[in-house]
Amino acid sequence: MNALTDAGAARRHRLTPEQVPDIVTEQLDADEKAALTARIRELLKAQNATLVAHYYTSPELQEVADATGGYVSDSLDMARFGTECSASTLIVAGVRFMGETAKILNPEKRVLMPDLGAECSLDLGCPPDEFAAFCDQHPDREVVVYANTSAAVKARADWMATSGIALDLVKHLHAEGKKILWAPDRHLGAWVQRETGADILLWDGSCVVHEAFKADGIARLKAEHPDALVLVHPESPAEVVALADFVGSTTGIIKAARELPAQKFIVATDNGIFHKMREAAPEKTFIEAPTGGKGATCVSCAHCPWMAMNGLRSLVGVLERGDNEIFVDPALRERAVQPIQRLLDFARSRRTVVLGNNDA
Ligand code: 13P
Ligand code: SF4
Repeated sequence: MNALTDAGAARRHRLTPEQVPDIVTEQLDADEKAALTARIRELLKAQNATLVAHYYTSPELQEVADATGGYVSDSLDMARFGTECSASTLIVAGVRFMGETAKILNPEKRVLMPDLGAECSLDLGCPPDEFAAFCDQHPDREVVVYANTSAAVKARADWMATSGIALDLVKHLHAEGKKILWAPDRHLGAWVQRETGADILLWDGSCVVHEAFKADGIARLKAEHPDALVLVHPESPAEVVALADFVGSTTGIIKAARELPAQKFIVATDNGIFHKMREAAPEKTFIEAPTGGKGATCVSCAHCPWMAMNGLRSLVGVLERGDNEIFVDPALRERAVQPIQRLLDFARSRRTVVLGNNDA
């Protein structure tokens, strides 16, 4: 396996703490939650709009999506759902690349997001010009980019991948004798490399949430709870992945919680996922994997600060004002849609399980 080796470049693609916003979660009392929910229901209906939310958004938001005929899922399945639902407006509650992917796949639909400031450290750590130059240096490699990238980065790729399908896709490319350039998540790429044996050149980005999980803390928890199984998202570092009983996408983790024969799980991914895990297996116990945290008292801060920008208040705001619309330049869209569509076709041909909502 290769990787970008220049230390300066490596630092450039990983965010400094100052680039990561504080986590601000919306606090609502029961009356306000009920009033906002009723208003959202009314506005969605009036605008023929559907709410598509990621598992990392707040329980309140996920509940509204489920209660209004919307959808809650992982990034691959959110993209698929957006293409299949009949609404003329998609409200994407998640981070910017999810809104952009929805727009790229559905140019005729209006795509709005509760907060346009909802970025992703992987997307921010992969500037399109620099990435294009990197690709130009390696013309012999098939370019595979994670969904967590901008439209401009996708436009430079042969394939898009998500954690739900990365192994299948790379196994397929490896069997065809292809060498791969993978961006931007170095941990996910390294996991795929270890699992498939493919020749992969890695970009050196990382997720600020998953990179913070600590193997020694998980090992200590495991010693306290020897009956617990460890579930890990592959954006986590290799030493954390090495402790896992199951490694997979957010949908995969929820499914594993329901199906694996254990009553207790230590979970290394964003804690927004606990809402659907508890719905899927209400009788089981879920324990957050420890992180370093931002503050001295923070034992487990495993929550994406950008996902936390989505809330019921900002959702009402965007529905009332109709702003925060996602636009993608048509020429860019024409190129960016190709690796995404290719992946969705590949997923369909493989009958990859893309389940969301309560079916996870
Ligand atoms: P999934 O594709 O597994 O939902 O992951 C998206 C993501 O941003 C994880 O941090
Ligand atoms: Fe990006 Fe990490 Fe947030 Fe997922 S959890 S959206 S990878 S910063």
